[in-house]
Amino acid sequence: MANRYEQQSWKDSMRLKLDFNNMMTEYVGETGISQSEIATLEKQIEKAEKAMVEKRANGKMDWRDLPYNQADVVKDIIEYVDSVKDEFDSFVVLGIGGSALGPIAVQQAINHPYYNELSKEKRGGYPKLYVADNVDPEKLVSLLDVIELDKTLFNVITKSGSTSETMSQFMIIKEILEEKYGVEGAKKHIVCTTDAEKGNLRPIADEQGYKSFIIPAGVGGRFSELTPVGLLPAAMCGIDIEELLAGAAYMDELCKTDNTFKNPASMYAILNYLAMKKGKNISVIMPYADSLKYIGDWYAQLWAESLGKKFDNEGKVVNVGQTPVRALGATDQHSQVQLYAEGPKDKVVVFVGVDNYKASLEIPNIYSNIPSLGFLGGETHNKLLKTEQMATEYALLKAGQTNMTLTLPEVNEFTLGQVLYLFEVATGFAGELLDINAFDQPGVEEGKNATYAMFGRPGYEEKKAELDTRPAKNDKYII
Ligand code: PA5
Repeated sequence: MANRYEQQSWKDSMRLKLDFNNMMTEYVGETGISQSEIATLEKQIEKAEKAMVEKRANGKMDWRDLPYNQADVVKDIIEYVDSVKDEFDSFVVLGIGGSALGPIAVQQAINHPYYNELSKEKRGGYPKLYVADNVDPEKLVSLLDVIELDKTLFNVITKSGSTSETMSQFMIIKEILEEKYGVEGAKKHIVCTTDAEKGNLRPIADEQGYKSFIIPAGVGGRFSELTPVGLLPAAMCGIDIEELLAGAAYMDELCKTDNTFKNPASMYAILNYLAMKKGKNISVIMPYADSLKYIGDWYAQLWAESLGKKFDNEGKVVNVGQTPVRALGATDQHSQVQLYAEGPKDKVVVFVGVDNYKASLEIPNIYSNIPSLGFLGGETHNKLLKTEQMATEYALLKAGQTNMTLTLPEVNEFTLGQVLYLFEVATGFAGELLDINAFDQPGVEEGKNATYAMFGRPGYEEKKAELDTRPAKNDKYII
């Protein structure tokens, strides 16, 4: 029998919907975007579309082809997972940024919200997933308290192989494992995901004989969730990675049209581009589903690191970008929505809704004698959450705060693949409109280099000298 993601009717029933009515002046009023403003961008949009097509054809956007060119990679991952999953109870990702946020987001979206607390049987025989991204010593020490080393597999993920956070974690774990099991015994507890040739981790993996997976050279960290960076952790916790890729391929088709009003990725980018021009420099992402909460974290990195740039492609200082803010509905209605409704009109709020939740919960028909409670009786939490989403949309519309809504028919691998791919293409497109390089991160490099210099890494002496000339802190301003 064919997989469901091979059936066109099922795929079409799982198509995401982007509703941008509340971005438009006809609805939200003068703070919105008019059709004529979109029309005046025609030439710029055509240029951006052309650049996207050319870059893809010239191998400058290799992440666009990931849904199609990984049959062997997927096979290798599935075989590897099948061969080790019985042996291990915990799978620990050591990675940060693009090497951590995708794995967290996908696992949280698809799996049981208390996945790690379930028995192994209820987890389908797959190990628990932990992601150790930060170098907060308390956290890693505490992780070692909860995992059973004998039954733990560590996945070191780093494209560059030089990220201090990840490599220092690897060094700590490697020593712990080798002390306990010897060099040979430690091997089976480590699997590496890194570049095929470049960086420190590749030669280490090859020399030590660690099992390893490849991050394709042309795919940068935050665009790498659909490579083994995300596919291995996902498959290791029972997620159907073939369906995830099929969802991305489906979205790719939707994003190929040059009819902007039918293309969710270009429209998302165009609206945000025009919004930025009006000073709307905050991009709020607000899923109405706990399962999608960490998509917010993943999106925040993608949008911020890609579009937050000082220079345009001609070297002119532009200082562009939207600050991403993560919110969760309905939780943040009781925290941030007051600001969204009455504060500055400097935001684009993106609601992410779900038509069908995986569970249904009825509210008992009690307290009918108390009208202010009784009205809830007999209804469901499903309806309550969706109604709150619509009500918040309405409140923001009324307040003139531009917003749009992305709806998933349900949260599954196919729809999630669409979400990931949609935001990636939108980010690339927004980069073209802004005329910036969406694929580098010089601002991050500066901080990394300063850390290396302060830590005394060879080759960073000049940077160290530069840092030594920074003004000394004045006690007057420290209280
Ligand atoms: O998007 C990026 O390139 C970064 O956020 C990286 O993912 C992050 O810095 C980690 O880099 P690496 O995978 O090289 O360890």
